Amino acid sequence: MSDLARTVPAVMQTDLPKGFSPAVITQIEVVAVGTKRFVLTLADGAAPPDLEPGAHIDVLLPSGKIRQYSTLCDDVEGAVTIVVKREARGRGGSAELHELSVGDVVGLGEARNHFALEPGSGPVVLIAGGIGITPILSMARHLAASSRPWTIHYAARRREDMAFREELAPRPEARLHFDMEAGHVLDMAEIVASLPEDAHLYCCGPLPMLNGYRAATKDLPQARVHYELFESTQEAATTGGFDVECARSGLVLRVQEGRRIIDVLLDAGINVPMSCEKGICGSCEIPVLEGIPDHRDDVLSDEEKASNEMMMVCCGGCKGDRLVLDI
Ligand code: FES
Repeated sequence: MSDLARTVPAVMQTDLPKGFSPAVITQIEVVAVGTKRFVLTLADGAAPPDLEPGAHIDVLLPSGKIRQYSTLCDDVEGAVTIVVKREARGRGGSAELHELSVGDVVGLGEARNHFALEPGSGPVVLIAGGIGITPILSMARHLAASSRPWTIHYAARRREDMAFREELAPRPEARLHFDMEAGHVLDMAEIVASLPEDAHLYCCGPLPMLNGYRAATKDLPQARVHYELFESTQEAATTGGFDVECARSGLVLRVQEGRRIIDVLLDAGINVPMSCEKGICGSCEIPVLEGIPDHRDDVLSDEEKASNEMMMVCCGGCKGDRLVLDI
């Protein structure tokens, strides 16, 4: 048994939900005000998952909370790095993580990527705000090692709020913006007006930034406009009044007004992976076999939504009286 494996409490080794592996926190670094970088090393010496820029991973906290965090790629070999801002008004996951120390153990679960770089050789414009830098910096590191032209626009309120400023500031591709110094937020219209031809854009940041980005890019071909949200843009569907059939068991569940599909599934003892519960992470994606979902998530593309082949059950509803889910 490796030294790392010996540090893992028995409870974490035996009681982890299916799909989670114990990982030891092997480094913690404060990278900006209220923001820490955590290096997580799988406890049994197992190789970490292969993570591409834009990937998230499920993290099981000692309290049992499961949260999903963007991974920082090309960081520490053989480990998974996440960067987490302590959210004063969050649901407690970031606050709990910030209280942990080197040597503490968390669970690492499935990795997903709904924000991957499109392959190609054309120019890339990256835009990040605040903690949205994690996937964007992963992309920047990846692009810096390629021959593909790229630029990054990175905004924070103040210098001390900007994680990885020292890494990016010397780079000729980087345009750093400090709201308090400039007296205004990043000018999305200006960025879009000066785009290289055929550039793909990637943006991750707080909702006001994303709203500005989507408004400024609405006339561009949407296949070139990519973004990732921290907050949902839509309310969950709670009008109810339909049945959900669980195809694997044949169980038929009634979704009453005021309830979400995920609540009804969990009450029936059906285990559904979930993390954000607001339609932005993709954890609760379930294939749809019959029926028309009322999509309310910010994960699936317009084409994926139109196909009605899958849905996020934490927020989606039904546009008819019955859904058959592959669960
Ligand atoms: S739990 Fe995150 S999209 Fe449903």
